[in-house]
This record gives sequence, structure tokens and C-alpha cells, in this order.
Amino acid sequence: MLKHTLLASAAVAILAVPALADTAEPRRQAALERLGQLLFFDPGLSSPPGQSCATCHAADAGFAEPDRSLPVSRGVLPGRTDSRNAPTVMYAQFSPAFHFDKNEEHYVGGQFLDGRAATLEEQAKGPFLNPLEMANPNKASVVEKVRRAPYAADFDTAFGPAALTDTDQAFERVAQALAAFERTRQFAPFTSKYDAYLAGKAKLTAQEKRGLRLFEDEKKGNCAACHPSQRGPDGAPPLFTDFTYDNLGVPRNPDNPFYKLPPELNPAGERFVDLGLGGALNKRAEDGKFKVPTLRNIALTAPYMHNGYFRTLRGSVVFYNDRDTKPRCASDWVSEADALKQQCWPAPEVTANVNDEELGKLGLSDSEIDDIVAFMHTLTDGWKPAPRRR
Ligand code: HEC
Ligand code: HEC
Repeated sequence: MLKHTLLASAAVAILAVPALADTAEPRRQAALERLGQLLFFDPGLSSPPGQSCATCHAADAGFAEPDRSLPVSRGVLPGRTDSRNAPTVMYAQFSPAFHFDKNEEHYVGGQFLDGRAATLEEQAKGPFLNPLEMANPNKASVVEKVRRAPYAADFDTAFGPAALTDTDQAFERVAQALAAFERTRQFAPFTSKYDAYLAGKAKLTAQEKRGLRLFEDEKKGNCAACHPSQRGPDGAPPLFTDFTYDNLGVPRNPDNPFYKLPPELNPAGERFVDLGLGGALNKRAEDGKFKVPTLRNIALTAPYMHNGYFRTLRGSVVFYNDRDTKPRCASDWVSEADALKQQCWPAPEVTANVNDEELGKLGLSDSEIDDIVAFMHTLTDGWKPAPRRR
């Protein structure tokens, strides 16, 4: 992918509160967002109860999976696990609705790592009914739980009387409330050290500065080609993703428990291959491609990549650096730690469509790799200047 800074820095306007003469609309919007928050954190909406959205998207883990003991999340039913690593929900509000960009001739935007939900609203309906996640048998079972929740009456405030009466409509409204919450400032604070640096309110260390330069240099890291790091022309802060799709050639993750799930949940067993965007569209030219994730809060959201192959940020940068110069490992089932020890990389999970133009042999030194990692640590929200000594 080439540069798409324009697109990636779009839509901060969403954060601005619309100036309406009428106060009913802002009040309705506030009620909707509050409702979304209650739904997001309610562990009573799974079957059996016990799992909320926040179980896999925890606030103190950058709204990604807080449990690092597995590369993927556990479902509410024992022994069930996702096939993919739970991404952060932060900054997801800026992903444009899924579409094919005719000028650039590639797919852009959407939710999920394969873009199969066009919008946040569509995405929010998925986890409730996913047998590997919240495992409700149908919409009616979700809506029944919402009708009995302590906040059920709040739906009437947000949507008008009898808001939960019709099951299909009620389910849509649950999704609308969740999406409204996910579009709030809480999911897009822009309060990292790097944001302060861009605003002239913080100084990067010498190492962080070197890392930033390498991150942006097309002849070095070239990271900003897909993870844009500069403000947009309208001054919008960078999102560190252009929301396009790529196959980096990430290996299969031998530690992914999904391979061992019974055939009714994973018919392919150990032969399971995650086709990403190509699977969602049933288009072989897109096989192996996953959405470029934001790198904001990346220090909080290990492990990395769609299958959590990388437990460390450093390992993932080493992979970008020498994927194409190290020998292929003898086995396809080698973990990050063993691959680093054996000085090899396993075969890509999907060999078709691997991007070998923009990554794979960057020629970075060990200390340059450390510099890029140090820079990525400046992307964590909630940064505060050290108190000044008097
Ligand atoms: C069991 C863990 C789990 C639960 C519970 C869960 N999620 Fe997720 N979430 C995931 C995983 C895994 C993915 C990536 C799945 C994929 O790409 O197919 C994901 C993806 C997402 C995304 C897309 C982010 C992006 O960048 O594409 C959003 C938004 C999201 N979840 C919100 C929610 C909401 C809202 C709920 C509650 C209704 C929820 N999640 C419940 C694990 C979970
Ligand atoms: C050609 C586009 C492209 C370039 C160039 C690129 N990335 Fe990525 N990056 C991606 C895609 C796509 C993914 C997700 C791949 C997957 O899940 O299989 C990703 C994932 C990542 C992740 C894991 C994020 C997560 O939440 O799991 C990190 C860290 C990362 N990139 C850092 C970098 C760094 C550092 C550079 C420069 C050395 C770089 N990227 C260059 C496209 C790119």
C-alpha cells in the first residue's frame, strides 16, 4: 500500500458536539451513549452469563484482551476459544464503512480483521451470537436478557416508548447503543506522549526521535506507508492505520488453541488456514490479507497480529526486518521465541499475496530495531509530563 494519510486522518469531526438549537437530540444522544456503556460492561448478556464485551476488550488493556495466557480469547463456554486475537476497540470509530476504493484499487475500512462487518453497528451484533464468544442461541435470547436488565427502561429514553417490544428492532437498538458508546471520546482520547509531542508539549528522547525517523523513512522502516504517523492536511491527529488490507506473511501460531477445537467448531483441525479478507469476500486475490491495525496503545495490547503469533513488539519488528533474508524454518510450526532462537522464520500462514515490496528486508541494525520499538512506546494514551522539580 502506498501513502493514504488523507483517509487515515479523516473524521475527527465526529468528536465535535453538534450545535443544535433543540436540546432533545443531544439528550437522546447522551442517553444512547450511556446505555451503550452499560451494555458493553454487562456480563449478563452471554449464555450462560459471565462474559461481556469488556471481558475481551478491557479498558486497562487498551480495550483489547487483558488475558495474555492465550494468544486468543476464551469464549463463555468452557473449552471454546476464538481463532483470532482480539484487537483494540480504541480508534475503531475512525474506520470508514467497508468499501472498494476504485482509484487505489483496493479494499478499505470496515470492522473485524477481515472487514466482514461494514460498520460498528453491524459489528456489535456479532459477539452475542458467536458460539465461540458470548454464545447466545439467537437474537430473542439476547433481547430477553436486555428486557430484564436494570437499564431496560433507559431504552425508552433513548428510542421512545416500547423500545424493546419488537425483537428484531430491539436487537438493532442494542447494536446502535453499543456503537454510540464506541464512538465516544473514551475510545479516542489522543493523549499519548506522541500527541503531546505533535502539539509541542513534550520532547521525545533521542532514541524515540531516532525511532520516529526510522518509522517514517521509506528507505528504512517504511512503517508509515501503512501506519501513517503525521497529522492530516486538516490537522487531524494520525491514526497509525490507513485501514487497508495486507498479507504480511505472518506464520501460523502453534500456540493458537483454535487448532485443537473439535470438528464441529473447527472442521479443518490443524489444517485450518485463516484467509482473512479473502475468506470474507471469497476472492482468492485477497487471501491472507488482514486490516492494518492502529498502533496507538500498542504497548498495552500484546500479543500481536491476527493470530497473536508475536508475543513481543520487538519480535514483530525483527520479522518486518528480516522475513526475507533469514532461512525458512524446517517446520511450519515454530513459535516466535523458537524462531528468534533458531534464526529462521516459518512459512507464511497464507503464501499467496504476501507483500514483498514494502517489508521483509529492511536492513535495520539491532539498535535501530530497538529505536522503533521505543518510538511505539510513545503511543500509549494517558501520558502525563513528569512533575517538574523545584
Ligand atoms: C470472547 C472475546 C470477545 C468478546 C466477548 C467480544 N469481542 Fe470484540 N473482538 C474479539 C475478537 C477475537 C475480534 C476480532 C475478530 C475477527 O476479526 O474476526 C473482535 C473484534 C471487535 C471489533 C472490531 C475492531 C476492529 O478493529 O476491527 C469491535 C469494534 C469489537 N470487537 C467490539 C465488541 C463488542 C461491542 C462486544 C460486545 C457486544 C465484543 N466486541 C465482544 C473478541 C471479543
Ligand atoms: C504494507 C503495509 C504495512 C507496513 C509497511 C507495515 N505494517 Fe505493520 N501491519 C500491517 C498489517 C496488515 C498488520 C496486521 C497483519 C496481520 O494481522 O496478519 C500489521 C500489524 C502490525 C503490528 C501488530 C499490531 C497488532 O495490534 O496486532 C505491529 C506492531 C506493526 N504492524 C508495526 C509495524 C512497524 C513497526 C512497521 C515498520 C517496520 C510496520 N508495521 C510496517 C501493515 C503494514
